[in-house]
Amino acid sequence: MTIPEQASSSPSPSSPSPSPEPLLRVSGLVKHFPIKKGVLQRQVGAVQAVDGLDFDVRPGETLGVVGESGCGKSTMGRLITRLLEPTKGKIEFEGRDITHLGTGQMRPLRRDVQMIFQDPYSSLNPRHTVGTIISAPFKLQNITPEGGVKREVQRLLELVGLNPEHYNRYPHEFSGGQRQRIGIARALALKPKLVVADEPVSALDVSIQAQVVNLLDDLQDELGLTYVIIAHDLSVIRHVSDRIAVMYLGKIVELADRKALYESPMHPYSKALLSAVPVPDPRSKHKRERILLKGDVPSPISPPSGCRFHTRCWKATDICTTREPVLTALKTGHQVACHHAENAPDQAPQSSAVLETAREAIAIVDVTPPAAGAGTAESGGTAPAGTEDSSKE
Ligand SMILES: Nc1ncnc2c1ncn2[C@@H]1O[C@H](COP(=O)(O)OP(=O)(O)O)[C@@H](O)[C@H]1O
Ligand SMILES: [Mg+2]
Repeated sequence: MTIPEQASSSPSPSSPSPSPEPLLRVSGLVKHFPIKKGVLQRQVGAVQAVDGLDFDVRPGETLGVVGESGCGKSTMGRLITRLLEPTKGKIEFEGRDITHLGTGQMRPLRRDVQMIFQDPYSSLNPRHTVGTIISAPFKLQNITPEGGVKREVQRLLELVGLNPEHYNRYPHEFSGGQRQRIGIARALALKPKLVVADEPVSALDVSIQAQVVNLLDDLQDELGLTYVIIAHDLSVIRHVSDRIAVMYLGKIVELADRKALYESPMHPYSKALLSAVPVPDPRSKHKRERILLKGDVPSPISPPSGCRFHTRCWKATDICTTREPVLTALKTGHQVACHHAENAPDQAPQSSAVLETAREAIAIVDVTPPAAGAGTAESGGTAPAGTEDSSKE
């Protein structure tokens, strides 16, 4: 990637304060797609695409969501934008329960929550001009912007770095990167609060990806947007996210501030994903050994028992096959769902809320009696350097 480091190192002015009320809150979110067979279309099973997600998105932040193909990222994106009906769970937007809103009730929400799609080729109607495409949201919502639709569309074209004179051109007259800019302009037309971008750059050439990522970053600063950005690899996510959720087979296995996740991942799966991210400086102290995961991602129709990652995990023990690990805060703001979390603090953390959950988690982890002298608190706070203040970057 040629994205300048600067894009990742300076938190945007709109970065969240420590604990504002979340813009979006998701609890116990489940989406199972039924599998039907025969003339009677009897249900014979279900694809467990999303299976119990809990997370918040704070105003002004970017939550990055990563995981291998098929782990449920797009399904999650479509659930929170209410393009899909959840099987179970709750979605709250600005404190309001929007889980089962009907079409009419959804109308105002459609203005506030927008989606940018992966493929800039198929997501734009080839028979419509750019002007028609970007003005469609105004028609759908019955809104006439101040100064008229044409002027507003031209302002949006300029905002995303396109020539406003190209209002009457068709999508095929633009390059892939330019088409994605058109998709972004359309998503921003109604001044949304939350933008969910599903793999916004993965269909683009690497040389163009950085431009689009930087555009999203600039627009966030300018318009105070909140993002959920979905990607299958961590190198894109790294440059845009304030916090990152790592998904595996329909579940979040780790959720942490970007710096904490990159410097001290706790879940073996996150560690493996990170080991595949190229380090810009080969002499860097963060040089990593590549971890190659064995086998393929299991089927979401019959996921493994206990921890879903156990079939591919080098740390798995008996408990992992029988007991599902709960997403737990082992450090402030750093949640992990693993019986054998890496980089877990040796000493109990300071915060009492975290202390309780950490004790609970340690109680689950410690199934065997400790060897004499091993892992005692007296060994003196050997948590990896740089992890303590990770949220204060
Ligand atoms: N409409 C659908 N009907 C049945 N299965 C689906 C549907 N949409 C997605 N899936 C399945 O759900 C799982 C998660 O898919 P998806 O959310 O697209 O994953 P990702 O975006 O992480 O690649 C996959 O196994 C996929 O085949
Ligand atoms: Mg997807």
